[in-house]
Amino acid sequence: MKNTLTLKVVLCVVGGLLLPFLPQAQQSISITSPNRFVALTTTLATNSTIQYRVSYKNNTFIEPSSLGFSLSRPKLTLSQFSIVSVDSSTTDETWQPVWGEVSRIRNHYKALSLLLKDKSGVLVKVHFRVFNEGVGFRYEFPKQENLTHFVVADELTQFNLAGDYKAFWIPGDYDTNEYLYNTTKLSEVNAVAAAAKETDIALKSVIGPNAVQTPLMLKTPQGLYINLHEAALVNYPVMHLMLDKKTFTLTSHLVPDAVGNKAYLQTPFQTPWRTINVSDKATDILASKLILNLNEPSKITDVSWIKPQKFIGMWWEMHVGKATWEKAGGKHGANTANVKTYIDFAAKHGFDGVLVEGWNEGWEDWFGNWKENVFDFITPYPDYNLEELTAYARQKGVRIIMHHETSGSATNYERWMDKAYKYMNDHQINTVKTGYVGKIIPRGEHHDGQWMVNHYQRVAEKAAEYKIMVEAHEPAHPTGLHRTYPNWLANEAARGNEFNNAPKLGLVPEHETILPFTRLMGGPMDYTPGFFHFQLNQYDATRTTRVKTTLAKQLALYVTMYSPLQMAGDFPENFNKHLDAFQFIKDVPVDWDDTQILEAEPGDYITIARREKGKPNWFLGAISDENRRTTALPLNFLEEGATYQATIYRDGENADWQTNPAAYTIEKMTVTNKTTLNLRLAKGGGCAVSFRKI
Ligand code: NOJ
Ligand code: CA
Repeated sequence: MKNTLTLKVVLCVVGGLLLPFLPQAQQSISITSPNRFVALTTTLATNSTIQYRVSYKNNTFIEPSSLGFSLSRPKLTLSQFSIVSVDSSTTDETWQPVWGEVSRIRNHYKALSLLLKDKSGVLVKVHFRVFNEGVGFRYEFPKQENLTHFVVADELTQFNLAGDYKAFWIPGDYDTNEYLYNTTKLSEVNAVAAAAKETDIALKSVIGPNAVQTPLMLKTPQGLYINLHEAALVNYPVMHLMLDKKTFTLTSHLVPDAVGNKAYLQTPFQTPWRTINVSDKATDILASKLILNLNEPSKITDVSWIKPQKFIGMWWEMHVGKATWEKAGGKHGANTANVKTYIDFAAKHGFDGVLVEGWNEGWEDWFGNWKENVFDFITPYPDYNLEELTAYARQKGVRIIMHHETSGSATNYERWMDKAYKYMNDHQINTVKTGYVGKIIPRGEHHDGQWMVNHYQRVAEKAAEYKIMVEAHEPAHPTGLHRTYPNWLANEAARGNEFNNAPKLGLVPEHETILPFTRLMGGPMDYTPGFFHFQLNQYDATRTTRVKTTLAKQLALYVTMYSPLQMAGDFPENFNKHLDAFQFIKDVPVDWDDTQILEAEPGDYITIARREKGKPNWFLGAISDENRRTTALPLNFLEEGATYQATIYRDGENADWQTNPAAYTIEKMTVTNKTTLNLRLAKGGGCAVSFRKI
């Protein structure tokens, strides 16, 4: 714990607050979470700065931290405040997501709002919500005479951590979040050195040695788990965090635009929420619905056309060098005959969709030249007969999933969006995977800037007009907006399973034990699990890349990596070699009534059980990092009095991600909620279980 001054604070417990009770010198107000574990205190310090601090079970983990803004137009620093009025309330409501990990979500918090007046006369409100799981706060710039249009130079929000906590971090970067996670103390963060090792990432815009990204996962020496992120990122740039390694203070660092400004705003305006999850149980962090609760309800009223899906794809063939996206060269993957074999396989095994990449003209010169007009999204290659294929798919009960790689040229995509979505409607294609590989156009903009954040939202809104579901690759980090736009099913926005094929660092076995604590805090990921072939030189003898898990772990990822859109990543000929194991991917649902996080430790292991939407069946996934693991799991989540047939897909006796990844065993047994299941996970291993109610 670091030394700080003990502030002389007068605590006024809020509830219809009256300012006259606040002393002149230092005004403090505290609220606690409904269960009283989390306490937030705001203080107007004697130097007129406004600060907040947060404790969990009476242990302060965020010490007094300042709030404020620096504007470049009008040129002002908003940091010297007086309190005009204070408001408080309690909310307790339950809502139902269109799809999700659970079918009912409780939104229970106490709120505190401060109306502040800066010495310039500008009014700013700060809204705090204190949940049992942590805190959310946002700024509001109300409509006011002194401020209409304004430009943000910097947001001055601090998270002044109370110690040198262990952090699971990736380098702060304006254009990519595809880094491997680093696990160090805060004082040991070196983002520039970490980024320098990442030669597999094509486009990096590293901010500096002390910049890290959110969601940032932290653990204190006393065993408190903390997660910092943001919710409802709308019309505003991504927040990265700048670390002071001496004081362990993190300060917001917003992504600039092409001329160095951060955000162009007009009153009334509300910033995204800054989120702080906290618990002494790691499982609580994964179970938290705080970020979803801070997002707005669905803007789409008729949601009948929105469906979670499982799909396969004309995709991995290109990544491993069996085929190419481009037609030139004679190895074009997306030809009519080849895609038909995928449709046949999808139909035979009950998949909803077939993703087809490399279907449209332009791949011969698509990347790396900052070229604006690459694709038009409506012109297939001549060997790809879309009419024939969509008719063929329809007749077999499968849909093609569209691919719109923009190569970062968002301006071009915006010009084509209407035509491209109409073209999809005409062919009854209702899901699109978008992609933003490369430098952004408008030139000078970044993937994480305000302009692009607005672009991703425009895509979700425009797609909704055409009843199209979206998943974006290489977008800004998700912040729970899938509540507001439930047609925005998933995103990549992290290092996906496909990085197993990256020549230098690839993936590491602990990666999937960190992602749910970091990237997935903001929403579902299109991780593309399901690789059944491990040495990736099947079609190109020169490759040394490999998948760094066991086969059983690839199955378990369908449960541990939540997404309403799950791909079976490998190609049919590899699935055909292990159809007994493939059965789990066929059976596992993509929508759930209930989720129980059974065990979790970031960087080490995760075990999750979920109940299928509308059915009594449960599915379980357990994964380990590079270490072996044994665990005894009481199946007390199963229905009392019911009997289930459990099918256990586990690592074989000598399984090991490095030496024997494909060794697995499938066992069946009858279980009840009194049974304890003993699991043994291999190094880099996992276990997947389906429980069918008998
Ligand atoms: C990167 C995406 O993550 C990947 O899935 C896709 O195949 C390529 N871009 C090509 O668009
Ligand atoms: Ca570990």
